[in-house]
Amino acid sequence: MKAIKSVVGEPLRIVEMDQPVAGPGQVLIRVAAAGVNRPDLIQRAGRYPPPPGAPETLGLEVAGWIEATGDGVSQWKPGDRVCALLPGGGYAQYALAHEGSVLPLPGDLNFTEAAGLPETVLTVWNNVFEMGRLQPGETFLVHGGASGIGTTAIQITAAWGANVFATAGSDEKCRLCERLGAVRGVNYRTEDFESIVRAAGGADLILDMVGAPYFDKNLNTLNDLGRLAYIAFLHGSKVEGDFTRVMMKRLTITGSTLRIRTDAYKARLAEGVRTHVWPMIASGRFKPLIDGVFPLEEANAAHLRMESGDHAGKIILSVAPE
Ligand SMILES: NC(=O)c1ccc[n+]([C@@H]2O[C@H](COP(=O)([O-])OP(=O)(O)OC[C@H]3O[C@@H](n4cnc5c(N)ncnc54)[C@H](OP(=O)(O)O)[C@@H]3O)[C@@H](O)[C@H]2O)c1
Repeated sequence: MKAIKSVVGEPLRIVEMDQPVAGPGQVLIRVAAAGVNRPDLIQRAGRYPPPPGAPETLGLEVAGWIEATGDGVSQWKPGDRVCALLPGGGYAQYALAHEGSVLPLPGDLNFTEAAGLPETVLTVWNNVFEMGRLQPGETFLVHGGASGIGTTAIQITAAWGANVFATAGSDEKCRLCERLGAVRGVNYRTEDFESIVRAAGGADLILDMVGAPYFDKNLNTLNDLGRLAYIAFLHGSKVEGDFTRVMMKRLTITGSTLRIRTDAYKARLAEGVRTHVWPMIASGRFKPLIDGVFPLEEANAAHLRMESGDHAGKIILSVAPE
């Protein structure tokens, strides 16, 4: 099969690789489209090695057809149209997934739209709803609102009934966040999110991928019993700060990373997503935002697009036409 090979410091290139074989509890997916995620760029730079047993090839999410099933698989059969969270290996014509990490295509989405869902939606579900316990009517702030994660989080939380604020790096991206359901997009280059969100009553939950520079302001922005959920530290993870606010406001600080969780944990998240988020897609309240689609062989250009920071929403690799 054709797959993308990644070597630190070299452009991505397409190579021939052996097609994987589904083991017990696994399915083999013929990939129609694959999602590109920031963690792929970090892995490619040698700073996010795949967990033991995961393929070396990049790619955390795909959509396509079930090609074959391993021993003990009961939920899926060849020909099913699915999308799936992967431990790696999605930038290829065929990829393996654990059966519990596979979901049916939601609503009437095509493969391109669905390929960008699993990694982002499961991450948002895990951090915002399970660990962050967001309630309807609460105020939610997401940093990086125009990112793949951000555009997903805004739509799902707005559909859930939260008041949503989002930070982004341009006025244009802020207006996009508002069109997706945010009450207010905050341009972090020209505006102060702390004063804007505080003036609106403060935040009950903040989803942060920025890290150190926002730590202090996040604590100031949170209300009593507020939650701060970390999914990345794009600008550093080390801080010196006054934790008195954690005590006085009874704050909770959480964090998680999806890739190293067990198959059983991911299956439970997928079940939550299927129950709560898939109906939002079917009813049109959440529609994945696609920035652009690149053929598999142009994976390097797709990475350059993400590196540029000019994108908004998801970048997708097209592997096989529908
Ligand atoms: N923990 C997990 O399980 C998990 C899973 C998936 C992804 N992640 C992480 O989540 C993050 C987003 O992933 P993605 O695939 O959606 O990537 P992405 O689309 O490239 O998003 C990165 C975002 O960071 C924003 N950003 C950079 N500096 C900022 C600042 N000072 N203030 C506010 N926003 C800032 C950028 O906003 P502008 O372009 O507007 O500047 C951009 O939208 C990545 O760091 C990724 O590693 C974590």
